[in-house]
Amino acid sequence: MSKIEWDDSLSVGVAAIDDQHKNWIECFNSAAEAVEAKHETAQVIKTLAFLVDYTEDHFSTEEKYMTENDYPGLAEHKEKHDELKKTLADLVRDFQEEGATRPLADGMDTFLGNWLANHIHEVDMKFSSFVREKGITIPAATP
Ligand SMILES: [Fe+2]
Ligand SMILES: [Fe+2]
Repeated sequence: MSKIEWDDSLSVGVAAIDDQHKNWIECFNSAAEAVEAKHETAQVIKTLAFLVDYTEDHFSTEEKYMTENDYPGLAEHKEKHDELKKTLADLVRDFQEEGATRPLADGMDTFLGNWLANHIHEVDMKFSSFVREKGITIPAATP
């Protein structure tokens, strides 16, 4: 399993979003590691639950910024968030039904890990370009 490491190429240039992405990557890495190591069920459930919660919080935060600033790409961006939430819910369901199997670990790695990095690189970056172009200030304090 390849862990995602934060580096500057993932920075969208908006501190409030970068901070959340760093936490999100940590949540993802812990969950993927727990599944990979076939940790006890309770621990895997805990890490997956954290990941689900954090993902939802993060997506809502981004969507709030987009709504507040009349971002024209909101609907498209939200669609991508909704797709990922569904993929994540499917992975959690697979875990509940089958436990920490090899296909689940691979699924975490490919679907989720690749998605996460690609989403930041391609989709979140578009929003941050918009923020910069419009000279919008996003407040730093977020949960
Ligand atoms: Fe994001
Ligand atoms: Fe996003």
